[in-house]
Amino acid sequence: MDVTNAGFLRITNGNSVVTPINNKAMIRLEKINKTYFGAQPLHVLKGIDLEIAEGEMVSIMGASGSGKSTLLNILGILDNYDSGNYYLNGKLVKDLTENEAADMRNRTIGFIFQSFNLIPFKTAMENVALPLYYQNVSRKKRNELAMEYLERFGLKEWADHYPNELSGGQKQRVSMARALVTQPKVILADEPTGALDSKTSAEVMQILREVNQSGITMVIVTHEKGIALRTNKIIHLKDGVIENIEINHPEQIDFSKEIK
Ligand SMILES: Nc1ncnc2c1ncn2[C@@H]1O[C@H](COP(=O)(O)OP(=O)(O)O)[C@@H](O)[C@H]1O
Ligand SMILES: [Mg+2]
Repeated sequence: MDVTNAGFLRITNGNSVVTPINNKAMIRLEKINKTYFGAQPLHVLKGIDLEIAEGEMVSIMGASGSGKSTLLNILGILDNYDSGNYYLNGKLVKDLTENEAADMRNRTIGFIFQSFNLIPFKTAMENVALPLYYQNVSRKKRNELAMEYLERFGLKEWADHYPNELSGGQKQRVSMARALVTQPKVILADEPTGALDSKTSAEVMQILREVNQSGITMVIVTHEKGIALRTNKIIHLKDGVIENIEINHPEQIDFSKEIK
């Protein structure tokens, strides 16, 4: 994929030191507990305390089944927690109606998934425009903005193509455009490079760093150390608790090197 076409790269330097814009907590978790009640109750998150400042770029690592996706789904208001408090951008996320949750999600969060989650019968442009539909943006404005974001990611010529006509890297760029088109405050990415080869993974991570440097808070779930090392903090989850938080210096990484 040709990242030189990505607009974010023109305005920032991928290797500069990233510091949070200020100390305002964008995400604050206090004693979050989550149990799945199946045949056997499964206590997945056991009193998680965590603060992520506005403008930070962090990763969450842990073995398969350690609760990474559960935590990310709670952060994204896609799932409820049982006890504790979650403050997103200063607002308590608790006991929300479906509509309130959807509204908060739409205004604050952009999602990126391992399997892209693009709608197969919609074109790249229609996929990017879709979140704006839920914000009651007019069709004309939706399409304009979608094209603008596709262009930023070097995908202008692919606007009318369907997902199955795109490579993995192109699909992930469409999904990044879709995540950003609503100008969210936070990007939540669950294994964003899990389905990509090494070179494309490095390119996607470089774009995500550029996006972060434009001020957007970024949380990336990954089980790949090479991905996590490209974030400023690694939160290690084990058996439902945060085992430790590792501080990184991604500015010291040679970003031209491949990841895997
Ligand atoms: N909806 C669910 N119902 C019951 N158990 C679940 C559900 N989602 C996840 N789990 C279980 O919770 C544990 C944590 O899952 P998950 O958060 O997906 O872990 P990770 O993303 O770290 O691999 C796993 O044992 C998983 O099987
Ligand atoms: Mg997972």
